[in-house]
Amino acid sequence: MLFFLDTADIQEIETGLEWGMVDGVTTNPSLIAKQGKAYLPTVLEVARLVPGPVSGEVLATDYEGMLDQGRRLAALAENVVVKLPLGPAGLRAVRTLAAEGIKSNVTLCFSAAQALLAGKAGAAYISPFIGRLDDVGQDGMLLIEEVVEIYEHYDFETQVLVASVRHPMHVVQSAQLGAGVVTLPFDVLQKLYRHPLTDNGLERFLSDWRKTGKSFDD
Ligand code: E4P
Repeated sequence: MLFFLDTADIQEIETGLEWGMVDGVTTNPSLIAKQGKAYLPTVLEVARLVPGPVSGEVLATDYEGMLDQGRRLAALAENVVVKLPLGPAGLRAVRTLAAEGIKSNVTLCFSAAQALLAGKAGAAYISPFIGRLDDVGQDGMLLIEEVVEIYEHYDFETQVLVASVRHPMHVVQSAQLGAGVVTLPFDVLQKLYRHPLTDNGLERFLSDWRKTGKSFDD
């Protein structure tokens, strides 16, 4: 399973890369706005830092505008993946960009039907937003189960990229279902490492050894 970081924060990305757990990055307009920096230069900065795929989203909502912005995003660096919203214009742009060799990540997916359309359009990734479904009382993981099952029946080139992840169990359950990619906020990546028994166990090992009064080399 690939881990992407869902952030435009350079420090978080650098730390995740140091830990060796980051295979790519997803950004969106909200995440870039939070950094208070310019749009395209931020996508470029992230793309230069990360060896894997970096999703940068179009701001246009019409087909021509999406194509223009998609091409400009893709021209920034080879690893930029163009993020396009679900809808007729977005999926039409996916098809056109795919024919030009440009990869896309279809965002704001909330149903299996939408994921099926993205697969047919030739998206490289489909991003079902599971946390936002949970937020409105629906079961986000059920959507992942449905999409993984549907994609197993066909030879779509589209990978399931689990998005809007809120906690470690979203990651674990996505892995159990065989989703190819999960995009994590940095705090969820940190939480994956933690268990209180790990901390207590380490403290006990070290304090037992300290009591001997000896060092590592004694
Ligand atoms: C995915 O690519 C999106 O950037 C992201 O996962 C949205 O998550 P949110 O619901 O936490 O904003």
